[in-house]
Amino acid sequence: MAFGYSMRKTENMEYQNLLIEQKEDIRIITIHRPQDLNALNTELLSELDCAFADASADAETKVVILTGEGKSFVAGADIAQMSAMDAAEAKAFGEFGADVFRRIETMEKVVIAAVNGYALGGGCELAMACDIRLASSKAKIGQPETGLGITPGFNGTQRLPRLVGLGRAKEIILAAETIDAMEAYRIGLFNKVVEPDQLMDAAMDLARKIASRAQLAVRYSKEAMNEGVDGGFEAGMALEANLFALCFATEDQKEGMKAFLEKRPAVFNGK
Ligand code: COA
Repeated sequence: MAFGYSMRKTENMEYQNLLIEQKEDIRIITIHRPQDLNALNTELLSELDCAFADASADAETKVVILTGEGKSFVAGADIAQMSAMDAAEAKAFGEFGADVFRRIETMEKVVIAAVNGYALGGGCELAMACDIRLASSKAKIGQPETGLGITPGFNGTQRLPRLVGLGRAKEIILAAETIDAMEAYRIGLFNKVVEPDQLMDAAMDLARKIASRAQLAVRYSKEAMNEGVDGGFEAGMALEANLFALCFATEDQKEGMKAFLEKRPAVFNGK
């Protein structure tokens, strides 16, 4: 599987709609377009693409947390912008958003969505492109597109069935349903639900735990899981066999197993 960000150059990028923070080896990207509840227009999608490319290239960053400012994670693609599009423009917009999300999904670092509020349409699709979804008890998630006369456009029709099963995905998409956080947790769309003021702490705790593991093993495990789900069991089996073997050529494998046998915590160096 190709990783999307190796050739991108994003130094000195200034963002109009994102806030970027670095805490230890964890990069926090906060979507900040409050006047439209963080709705995704082309500019915001481009900024997200650059911000993830930058996080991917940053040697210090091991895990990325993506969240939203205010009462919304992302309230969907920007309906005002979309309302003026013809079919060709809509195709380009959909493909651009889908490509940005795919690059997030396949980047070599782990991405945690901290879903703070509304995750609707493109917001649900963006959360699903992240590896793990933690949510505030105030979050609401769904795919309202059929109520607007369109299908989901950033691959919600593909990711939602994979995450919650075809029957539940059809109910949410065909009925344009929005569900609350506990229901999303019950069907496996959210990994965990916490009180709103605990969300970032929960995301940081999980990010630190992942960052403490052997990073090549984390990266290879993510790649093998994605490949198996996308390319089928046999393809996933073959890739896992190779990546498992590759781990035995790393310093972290030596350290991880030596530390276990010496009954001490492992100290990984990412090599
Ligand atoms: N695109 C563009 N603008 C959006 C938007 C979107 N997806 N979602 C919200 N906004 C804008 C509203 O137009 C409003 O702008 P205004 O203050 O200039 O009128 C502002 O954000 C606040 O939204 P509002 O609807 O007043 O907030 P609310 O708390 O009453 O409702 C939602 C919140 C999320 C339930 C509601 O905004 C909503 O349903 N949004 C659209 C969700 C959607 O269908 N997304 C899928 C798009 S494909």
